[in-house]
Parts: sequence; C-alpha cells; structure tokens
Amino acid sequence: MPDLDIDALLAELTLEEKASLVIGGDFWHTAPVERLGIERVMVADGPHGLRMQPDGGDHVGIGGSAPATCFPTASGLASSWNRSLAAEVGAALAQEARVQGVSVILGPGINMKRSPLCGRNFEYFSEDPYLAGELALAMAAAIQEQGVGTSLKHYAANNQEDDRLRVSAEVDERTLREIYLPAFERVVTGCQPWTVMCAYNKVNGTYASEHHWLLTEVLREEWGFEGLVVSDWGAVHDRVASLVAGLDLEMPPSKGRSDVAVVEAVSSGALAPEVLDRGVRRVLRLVSQAMPTKDATPPEPAYEAHHALARRAAAESAVLLRNDGTLPLALSDGQTLAVIGPFATAPRYQGAGSSQVNPTTLDVPLDELRAQLPTHVHLTHADGFGLDDSSNDAALLAEARDLARQADTVVLFLGLPAAAESEGFDRTHLELPANQLAVLETVAQVSNRVVVVLANGSVVRTSAWEDRVGAVLECWLGGQAAGGAVADLLTGAGNPSGKLAETIPLRLEDNPSYLNFPGDSQKVVYGEGLFIGYRAYDALALEVSHPFGFGLSYTSFSLGSPSVSVAGSVGDELCVSVTVPVTNTGAVEGAEVVQVYVSDPAASVRRPEQELKGFAKISLGAGESGEVQVDLDERAFSYWSTRLGRWVVEAGEFVLRVGTSSRDLPHAHSIDLDAPSVAGPLDRDSTLHEWLADPRGRDVLLGAFDSTGSAGFIDDDLIHVIGTMPLSTLAGFGLGGFNHDLLDKLVSEL
Ligand code: BGC
Repeated sequence: MPDLDIDALLAELTLEEKASLVIGGDFWHTAPVERLGIERVMVADGPHGLRMQPDGGDHVGIGGSAPATCFPTASGLASSWNRSLAAEVGAALAQEARVQGVSVILGPGINMKRSPLCGRNFEYFSEDPYLAGELALAMAAAIQEQGVGTSLKHYAANNQEDDRLRVSAEVDERTLREIYLPAFERVVTGCQPWTVMCAYNKVNGTYASEHHWLLTEVLREEWGFEGLVVSDWGAVHDRVASLVAGLDLEMPPSKGRSDVAVVEAVSSGALAPEVLDRGVRRVLRLVSQAMPTKDATPPEPAYEAHHALARRAAAESAVLLRNDGTLPLALSDGQTLAVIGPFATAPRYQGAGSSQVNPTTLDVPLDELRAQLPTHVHLTHADGFGLDDSSNDAALLAEARDLARQADTVVLFLGLPAAAESEGFDRTHLELPANQLAVLETVAQVSNRVVVVLANGSVVRTSAWEDRVGAVLECWLGGQAAGGAVADLLTGAGNPSGKLAETIPLRLEDNPSYLNFPGDSQKVVYGEGLFIGYRAYDALALEVSHPFGFGLSYTSFSLGSPSVSVAGSVGDELCVSVTVPVTNTGAVEGAEVVQVYVSDPAASVRRPEQELKGFAKISLGAGESGEVQVDLDERAFSYWSTRLGRWVVEAGEFVLRVGTSSRDLPHAHSIDLDAPSVAGPLDRDSTLHEWLADPRGRDVLLGAFDSTGSAGFIDDDLIHVIGTMPLSTLAGFGLGGFNHDLLDKLVSEL
C-alpha cells in the first residue's frame, strides 16, 4: 500500500475529525477516520514483553492480556551490559508485536534510577545515562528494524511513583542535560523512535505534557526528533496547551472533553489551526509508518525460540555478588541439596503494573534444578517463610532449619514479595522482609554452604547479612525463563557475566537523594544534582556493598595495558580509541565487561569524579585472549555549560580509567585535548584570577600596574588572598593606584 497522502488528507478532514485524530480512539488505538480510509493504529505495553489487551482493557495490568514471552525486566537486561542481547530481545518483541497486530510497543522505559526506592526501577535500566542509552538504543533500533514502532518513556524526570501524576521534579538544567536527558537523546538521535511518551509529572512546575522546552525546543529543535509525542495514559490536563507545547497524541481519549476543547479553541481563534494540523500530520505519519507491517501477513509465532532467548537473557542478567567457592554447586551422588523459599516453586519474575505480561510458560526453579542435577543427588524443599506477611512462622522456620542441617548445600531463594514493589508506589526501605532474614540467619547457623538467590526489581540491602553466606546471586526479575537460567548458573552449565547497572549501597541513608525523596507538597527537589548513583558514592568517598559495574564470574580475567589513539579534534570528529587486551585466566569459558570511565581532573566546574563513557563485553574460552575496542566521541569529555548554553570540552588533561567495575579500574591513561578556551569575555566584574588566567587580560592588567609604578605590589601572596575579587571592587579600593578610570580603559582596550 502506498504512503498516505497527508497533504490531501489534511485538506479533506473536518475540524472535528482532526480533533479526533490527536486524541486516541480507545485505550489502545488511535482514532480511525473510515470515510477517508485512515486506519487505526494499535499500541501495547511494554518494555519486556507484550501486554496486548484484545478487548478494551486498562492501563495498569489488572485486565488480562494475550500470552506473550516475558523477558527479563530492564533492571535485569541492563545488568547484561550486552547491546546485542538487548537487540535480540528487541527483535523478538517486535516479532511478537507483529503476530499480535501491535504497531507500537510502549517502551523501552529509560528513566534514571535516582533513588533505589522508586517502585518502578525494575522497568528502568540504570543509574547511569550512558549505559541506559546504549542498551535502550540497541533494543529500540532492533524493534524498529522489524517495522514496529517504539515509545521511549517517560520523558522526562519521572523518577518516582509517589505522587507521579502531580509532583514537580525541581531540577536544574545542567543536571537534566547530563543525567536525565542523555539516554533519551541517544535513542532519539540514534534511531528516530516512532514515538516518545511524555511523563505524568511536572518538570520545574510545568506538566511534561505541556512542556514546550522539553517537547519542542529540546526534543525536536535540538535533537531533530521527527516522530510523534504521545501522552502517558491520562497525563493530559489541558489539551489545547499540550498541543501548543508539542504533544501530538493524547491517550487514552478523555470521554469527549478534549475534543470539545480543541474544536472550541480553533473555532474561537484561541488555537491556531496550523498547530492542530501539525499534530494531525504526525498522527497520520504514524498511521503511514504502521501500514506496511499491518498489511503484511503476520509472521509465525516463535514462542519456543523466544523462551530459549529469555533463558539466555536471564542468565546474562544475573550478577554474582559473592562467592567463596560454594558456586557452582559441586554435588556428587548421594549428597543432598536443600532448596528453601517459596520463590523456588512460585518464582517472582516480573513487576506489577502496566508492564505485567501474561507469560507463554513459566520455568519453576526447583523443577529446573531437579532436571539438571545428577540423578543421585537428593533434593529437598521447604518454604521456610510466607510471602503474605513478614512475621515469622515457627513451624516453617523449624522445617527449614532441619532440612538445612541435613543437607550438604543449601540454596535459599529470597527476594521482594510482589506487594513490596510495583508501578504506582515507591518503597520506603531497602530491607528484605524480616521473616526471610530470620530464615537466612537460622539456616546460616546450621550450614556453612549457603547460597542466596535473589529476586527483586531494584536493589535490596545485602550488607546486613551477606557475610553469613557463601554465595549471593542477584537475579533481578528475570522473566519467564529465569527458573531455567538460575539452574544453569547454579550448576555451572552457565557462567555468570552480569555487572551491576546500579550500586548496592551499604545503607539507604548513603544514597544522596535520601533527604529529598519522594519530596512533599507536590514538589521533589533534585538537590543532589549530577550526583546520583556511583557519581555520588564516589564524590562522597563512601564505601558501598557492591559498586556500579561489579559482578563476579566462575573464571577470572586479566586486562592488559590499554593503548589509546586520538583521531580528529575537539569540534572536528574527535574519536579517542581505547584498545584493551583481555585474557581469560581461569578454567572455564566466561565473559567480561571492559569499562572505560572518563575523569576531568582540571575542570573549571564541579564534575563527577569519573563517568562511564564506554564499555564492551567479550566472551573468551578458558585460557583464551582477545581484545576490545572502545571509542569515545567528543560528548564523552563534555559537560553542559550553563553559562554558554551548550556542551563544552575544556582543554587540558583527561584521564581514562579502564577496568571491570567503577571501583576496580587498574589502568589509568592520561590524554591531553586541545580545545578553544571557554572562558567568558573579561569585563569589570571578572575576578583578578580570571584576568590573570587570560593571556591578553594578564598582559593589559600587568601593563596597567606597570604604568602606575606598582607592578611589585601585586605579588603571589596577595593574589592568593584577593584573587577572587572582581576588578571593579579592587578599583574601588584604589590599591596601587588602580582605579575605575583605569579599569574602564582596560576593558575598552580588550
Ligand atoms: C504507564 C505507562 C504505560 C501506560 C499504558 C501508564 O500508567 O505509566 O508506562 O505505557 O500506562 O499502559
């Protein structure tokens, strides 16, 4: 079918029809205009599996949806640090979308993990914008390559669930530019997502759905976004204001209220018809984009293959946090493994809310372990604790203790019950439920071979208990095949290679958002600014339980000295290539993630101590060597200058730190970059330091002191004390004959 003739359609559409097009037709469809052959487009959640609701539906997952593969949630997938895996998952999601007639997948969700308490962190990738942007781009690009659209969400600064529909995120521009927007920018500039979904919340007092700066100036004028902006479900408060700001499609429809408002506004002249036409054009473009795959024969479902992919993805998502050699399990015939915890038979594998998938099948960890362990290993199981409340059940506890005592090794399945984290509310603490900790303590008293397997969507505190056990495997919410993946990793059929995409702090209070989360009186102040996640723990020199980027393996790796080459220059396609030799020095095959952090020690503004700017994952057989190459562009060295309103690289030294976690960076390599000076023009209010730092300023100023015969007066000791004073102040003091007339002369000379 040919593309829609948008100009011709615009000429035909009535005002009422145009209004209907910029407001959805029902919960999951755009509005059709049958008279003109404009078909409706179906959208569906969500980021880690389709939630296609065939009949009507809701937006929080209460109603049922058609079965679809449930992949690991973003917190898991992000821990794989594997772009091609994210792309494979994306391609599978798109394939299932096509099978189910869905044209746009409402994801990925790429908000930053400002606080570990955010109830929806399981749906987001990371505390680091670079990592989130890279993985989201790989996934979104792969979805769109299959002719299915994405909806990048939630734009922007939607970093909590409490009061998410009203709260105003009070955040300065530099922090937005460097932390909360870059992942969006990366995906928009990298693959032109068909749609971007605006957030519910306000940003600095204005609803994201009415935020002209976000929706039009930054998204379109700066980043070149060509797609459509859709509202989060119910995020529109004033349809006319949102159209003006750049919100093209309201979802779901508002029972006619918005239609009336738009028609009245155009009729009365309050809304320029071109503004409505702009939104209509973008909706028609989306209809046009969706047509080729809608009209094609849908592919055959590939649910089995996708389940296998989900298992691989879940295995790569798991992070081995601790291991004294208890893992992989090495049980011989006649030995006993006690498996404890209700999650072993009723796994927690996804989060609640709009992303909740109806899985095609579900792996049960206990069954999967049974299938993989040698036949003559005895396997016993007890629940040990209940999930509905957190109080101790003496009988369950005693049963767990007895089984653990009789076993050679214990695997304890712990995690957050579904009621503890979800879309719609935030957590208030990072602790595992008390009854789980009681079982852990009881089991640890009778066994010195205890493995903890964790299932949770966002970090839980491990510092209170992890030294009581031999191994800890963090599996996040690993999707429908997590049970098989866990069995693979526990038995050694697979080797963990996940790395933390979010820091595990020693305690909640160490997190810098602690004092300002979730805010009150409908405001949340992002007082920590740039310093979220590891940027904060580094700046505050805080110990953490497990740093960003960390994860163990059953093998070991050594990284050789990086070689660094610089091509291009600042302003002209700068590319700094870092090549790192890697050797698998252990006895089994495994994968390592080489991470490159950039530090700007001489920055003139406060910058994080180091920031992740590149990474590469490499798989190597036992004893095998290889190398990875990580390329850094100009942005990797830049900060957002609020004074200049643009990205800036400051000339001078940068240090590239290379290693395998943010706190294990054995290689440091300095480079010098030349760049134009970013110092502001000197004026009367520039300080003595600023005048002296500028070569011309220095010459004229020292010349002036010479002319007054007081050159010797201005020595280093004095400069140290008065250097931060503006020259206008010094002129007022008249020291050394320096006065306002002379200062005016200097400024005009410059
Ligand atoms: C969520 C979105 C979701 C939409 C549709 C909203 O409540 O915030 O992420 O895509 O519902 O289900």
